Amino acid sequence: MKKLMLLAVATAAACVFVGCGNAQDDAGKPLRMITEATFPPYEFLRGQEIVGIDVEICRAVAAKMGRPFHAETVDFDSVIPAVISGKADLAAAGITVTEDRKRNVDFSIPYVKTGIVIIYKKSAPVTKGGQCKGKKVGVQSGTTSETYVIEQLKQEPERSKSPAEAVAALKSGRVDCVIADIDPAKNCVKGEADLAISDFITSEEYAIAIKKGQPELLKAVNETIAEIKANGKLAQWIRDFTEESDKMKDR
Ligand code: ARG
Repeated sequence: MKKLMLLAVATAAACVFVGCGNAQDDAGKPLRMITEATFPPYEFLRGQEIVGIDVEICRAVAAKMGRPFHAETVDFDSVIPAVISGKADLAAAGITVTEDRKRNVDFSIPYVKTGIVIIYKKSAPVTKGGQCKGKKVGVQSGTTSETYVIEQLKQEPERSKSPAEAVAALKSGRVDCVIADIDPAKNCVKGEADLAISDFITSEEYAIAIKKGQPELLKAVNETIAEIKANGKLAQWIRDFTEESDKMKDR
């Protein structure tokens, strides 16, 4: 019994020393969100500032935990690795829940039901997934659109850094169509009279990814999502940031 108690005291002391990542240790430290900010309305740049639906969700998590908040943008391929390595606490980037990703990170409850679509030129319509076969298909690197081309169409996609860059390749004729998530796709075709988008070719859900084994953080994220769904804030942010990012296209 004495030995056991000693062990408990030693473990507690070691935790204080190295920091076992419990809520008390983290209080006051900024909650670090990692994203890829070329994905309106979920995340995009307003000047230098990263803004969007995902940013508001993560800011609300920080507020719930009483912690300051910090957001950073990297290439989409680096978003999930950043939470695995501990460089960031939350990955929120319109991230689709997939079985593959679930092996490496924990996901929150989903906050949006969505999917990917095909962006094509009206002069050369490509409206079904199967019609992309054998064509040059543009995608944002690291996304479920890339996986779709590799796994469903069994071919190599043309990779870009952002949905907008992929659409620029479509406009200049370097690719025949683009596959992307519906909301950034809608933003890309806004004001482009010669472009159109197909119906959904997949059905997906967005959630927030965190490093595995952090029950307190996961609970705070899930409670926040449940709250913003119930009190209408999520719906409001979706409206506001869709409007703002659409307006940016008009300029
Ligand atoms: N939903 C897609 C995925 O998870 C695309 C997400 C891209 N997000 C971004 N912020 N660029 O693969």
